[in-house]
Amino acid sequence: MDCRSIIAPTPPMGWNSWNTFGENIDEKLVKDVANIFVRDGYKDAGYEYVVIDDLWEADERTADGKLTWDTDKFPSGIPALADYIHSKGLKFGIYSCSGIRTCAGKPASYGYEEVDAQTFAEWGVDFLKYDYCYKPMGVSGPELYRKMGQALRATGRPILFSACEWGHNNPATWGRFAGAHMWRTTGDIVDSWDSMLNIAEKQAGLEVYAGPNAWNDPDMLVVGMYGRGNAADGGMSDTEYKVHFALWCMLASPLMIGCDVRKATVATKQILLNPGFISVNQDPLGVQGRGIGYNDKDWEGQDFQVWSKPLSDGSIAVAFFNFNGDRARTMVAPWAALAIHDHRPCHVLDLWTAQEVGTFDRYVEAHVQPHDVVMYKVTPAPSDAKIQHQRVRKAGCDGC
Ligand code: GLA
Repeated sequence: MDCRSIIAPTPPMGWNSWNTFGENIDEKLVKDVANIFVRDGYKDAGYEYVVIDDLWEADERTADGKLTWDTDKFPSGIPALADYIHSKGLKFGIYSCSGIRTCAGKPASYGYEEVDAQTFAEWGVDFLKYDYCYKPMGVSGPELYRKMGQALRATGRPILFSACEWGHNNPATWGRFAGAHMWRTTGDIVDSWDSMLNIAEKQAGLEVYAGPNAWNDPDMLVVGMYGRGNAADGGMSDTEYKVHFALWCMLASPLMIGCDVRKATVATKQILLNPGFISVNQDPLGVQGRGIGYNDKDWEGQDFQVWSKPLSDGSIAVAFFNFNGDRARTMVAPWAALAIHDHRPCHVLDLWTAQEVGTFDRYVEAHVQPHDVVMYKVTPAPSDAKIQHQRVRKAGCDGC
């Protein structure tokens, strides 16, 4: 295999066991997830990595110092599981930690970086999530990640390196130099509107560090958890999960599903499989979007935000976020704020519904319900294109 190839040209997409299952993982669950990925269209939509998080490990290393698996949970073994995932055309991910123990207390990779990287490569691992618990004194975070980054490269196998450093040492500034393809920028997400928004807010200012093969990671998705599972915390409505997904798409964030896809509702699938939103996330230009005029980390009182994300075909994704729980609001995106000339006609497509909105010059607006989002694709048109201004759509709006 060619280890020089770009491993994460667009934000990685997949599933991780932690948010819903925590310690309750086994090989049947992981195989079921792979089967669902194929059967229910996740694979076709771009979801690729099936990742087991902490608590796959045995309590101790083998006599010759290698990591090994919990045989109660994985009786057929991790290599056989990796083979199974590969047989479905998917990729297999695993978890370890840069300290002396994993966050859940299992053996971790400090001092064993090379042997563990080699073990993972031999098992057929394609993705390593690398945590930050039980860090030894006197060693810096960047050094710990650089060691594993080097060890993974030395195996010759393309292994996506996901640095789970929680933003402690500002990994956006050094992650790609340590060999990481994505790095957590915050502590753990839980399944609540406040947690989700609080994490999204912290991405402001990190845009310049993101790009092909190097992504800011605001943590795994909680879409579809509905207040159940390991990271449960009250849950959200479907519309709120749609806002969560839209934010992660505009942020060019990795899209790691955290819910139980075996039991996903129709609404959950509509969100996670929305082609328009995913196309924004996966756009090859790899720009991390941001709010127009909201470039700080304090969203206090900034309930109505218009975001832009330039795309590779010269169009611009525009998201109108209503973070207010009580009031609907009409929001405006002026061309000037999108770096489009005022008089340039632009076609506008609603990315959620895939419906044409019209052809506009100067600006486009959207009416957005409480805790909802509207996402458009604004595409510059020939200068003689006919302008078809339409009234702001108020579908679904009760008396507003
Ligand atoms: C940390 C990470 C989580 C998860 C757990 C596992 O908290 O941030 O994402 O991997 O450890 O123990």
